[in-house]
Amino acid sequence: MDFSTISTRGLVLLGCGKMGSAMLAGWLRGGLAPGAVHVIDPHPSDWLQSTGVAVNGQLPEAPAVVLIAVKPQMMAAALPQLQAMGGGKTLFVTVAAGTTIATYEAILGAATPIVRAMPNTPAAIGRGITAITGNGAASADDLATAEGLLSAVGQVVRLDGEHQMDAVTAVSGSGPAYVFHLIEALAAAGEAEGLPADLAMKLAKATVGGAGQLAEDAADSPVQLRINVTSPGGTTAAALAVLMDEETGFPALLKRAVKAAADRGRELGK
Ligand SMILES: NC(=O)c1ccc[n+]([C@@H]2O[C@H](COP(=O)([O-])OP(=O)(O)OC[C@H]3O[C@@H](n4cnc5c(N)ncnc54)[C@H](OP(=O)(O)O)[C@@H]3O)[C@@H](O)[C@H]2O)c1
Repeated sequence: MDFSTISTRGLVLLGCGKMGSAMLAGWLRGGLAPGAVHVIDPHPSDWLQSTGVAVNGQLPEAPAVVLIAVKPQMMAAALPQLQAMGGGKTLFVTVAAGTTIATYEAILGAATPIVRAMPNTPAAIGRGITAITGNGAASADDLATAEGLLSAVGQVVRLDGEHQMDAVTAVSGSGPAYVFHLIEALAAAGEAEGLPADLAMKLAKATVGGAGQLAEDAADSPVQLRINVTSPGGTTAAALAVLMDEETGFPALLKRAVKAAADRGRELGK
């Protein structure tokens, strides 16, 4: 991305834990000068200190961007110190789960351009997917800036509005945990069929990782990829008869799980 405005006016990163570090590493790799970045974090890591960015120092008065990457429960304590940057000159981008745009507007003012983003943990290896949506004050340029910053950790998609955020959170935000649990359950099932634990886990991880990559890369849809590996009357067909059962299979189970996550998101957002 073009970092020129950020290079002149600076970027403030509030919170540099897992998500903040993954993004910062991506920006620096992408050519952002460390001197343009000002990080606020109570316990800066050794890695952060080694990057050459400014840590817990004097902040620019009107940075180009403030990126918020603290836990939602820390927001009330962390955000007020940046209140003076609200009002229009500085773009606020937040990756905090559950905190609504209205919450930021209440603290920063509705004239503040705000982009709310939902990333996911594969961001740690540059394979995340982040959904973004802006408030009324966020311009096309602001959305492009947010997209550029977040593409440092993977793909970026734009939403029609904040009303889609709870569903996105329930699919891609929380989704990696569902897949980790699938790996655990697949390995445990392999053990139940007599495999040693470490072998079963290795098979499960590589199968989910490889199939996920194939689904992303292949020209065929996941439906076609599934059909391709399912011979009538074969072993895969026997398992899919269980997994595709209308009442007890994956579709019903995932629909309930995703609904539970989306409902919880709506509750937390109140
Ligand atoms: N990880 C994900 O996949 C993911 C996905 C979607 C959304 N998010 C969102 O991303 C945000 C960050 O998540 P994370 O996993 O990166 O959490 P994290 O690793 O706990 O990072 C948060 C960082 O903020 C620091 N912090 C705490 N209080 C602060 C304050 N008052 N001012 C400045 N910094 C402060 C923390 O320091 P201490 O540890 O020393 O307290 C920590 O370094 C969360 O809002 C989360 O909802 C994360």
